[in-house]
Amino acid sequence: MRIFLAGATGAMGKQLVPRLVAAGHEVVGMTRSDGKRAVLEELGASAVVADALHADEVGNAVARAEPEVIIHQLTAIGSVDIRNFDRSFALTNRLRTEGTDHLLAAGRAVGVRRFVAQSYAAWPYARTGGTIKTEEDPLDPTPAPNMRETLNAIRYLETAVTGADWTEGIVLRYGAFYGPGTSMSPGGEQFEMIRRRKFPVVGDGAGIWSFLHIADAAEATVAAVQRGRRGIYNVVDDDPAPVGDWLPALADRLGAPRPRRVPKFVGRLFAGEVGVVLMTDIRGASNTGAKRELGWKPRHPSWREGFAS
Ligand SMILES: NC(=O)c1ccc[n+]([C@@H]2O[C@H](COP(=O)([O-])OP(=O)(O)OC[C@H]3O[C@@H](n4cnc5c(N)ncnc54)[C@H](OP(=O)(O)O)[C@@H]3O)[C@@H](O)[C@H]2O)c1
Repeated sequence: MRIFLAGATGAMGKQLVPRLVAAGHEVVGMTRSDGKRAVLEELGASAVVADALHADEVGNAVARAEPEVIIHQLTAIGSVDIRNFDRSFALTNRLRTEGTDHLLAAGRAVGVRRFVAQSYAAWPYARTGGTIKTEEDPLDPTPAPNMRETLNAIRYLETAVTGADWTEGIVLRYGAFYGPGTSMSPGGEQFEMIRRRKFPVVGDGAGIWSFLHIADAAEATVAAVQRGRRGIYNVVDDDPAPVGDWLPALADRLGAPRPRRVPKFVGRLFAGEVGVVLMTDIRGASNTGAKRELGWKPRHPSWREGFAS
């Protein structure tokens, strides 16, 4: 198939392009920068330069590419200031709202048969009831004030994509990425915070994190492109785990000192309400639906071994 990939040069794009090409697909990768054409060509894609926030540029790029499938992997996360969460995600939120609209409009104009978009499973679920959530469970009706805009942008993207009745709209709610090119890799922001003992367990550390190796994310995306049906899928590993479990285990793995433990009020002082929620309250996600419907399973079923790979 001919595939238009928005976000082709990022951590995900770099994993995804070679896998799509190996599966026999032709990939047109989008970037804002002329200088990154060569990166895309080395990965096996052809490159198109366009800004995702400009409707005309996106429309023209997609029209020229004439794809059968569009994949939306646009984010601009960079370094996150947890106390100013929505501010840190402001540009990503625009990519998830305006960027989604532009890609959908461009895809509709050329009649793409599938539209696959990136979403997130690791913190948006409601923080009530069971600890492991499926796609049928509600998203958080009362997120921390500093996360509202980001959750609204996620909801917007999911509703727009699954509501596009002229195509097979597929939303992949990825777990927290780790592995090459992510902030959870040697030299990455979060690993280095753990090494420097700047990533404490807050309160009871009962917040449940769902992780995903970036290579597994790419493989699930290929599966969705090839055989996904309209809907939302949690793409996470098999081992959702509380912070109090994974954080000390990862510190051990990195040869770092054991993480500090701080009470909630100290966590709130340094990381705000969002930090406390992420450490003590979020729920994990189940990948049963993705395994059944996409015929995918993670090669790194648990972060326990995956972090070492
Ligand atoms: N599920 C997760 O845990 C998750 C999800 C996303 C990101 N992350 C992590 O967050 C960290 C930083 O990621 P990042 O968001 O900075 O992503 P990134 O890996 O740099 O990728 C961002 C992609 O979006 C494209 N892009 C951004 N704005 C664009 C625009 N206006 N027009 C066209 N393309 C645009 C970039 O293309 P050009 O720069 O070439 O224009 C690039 O291909 C990484 O560690 C990543 O793993 C984690």
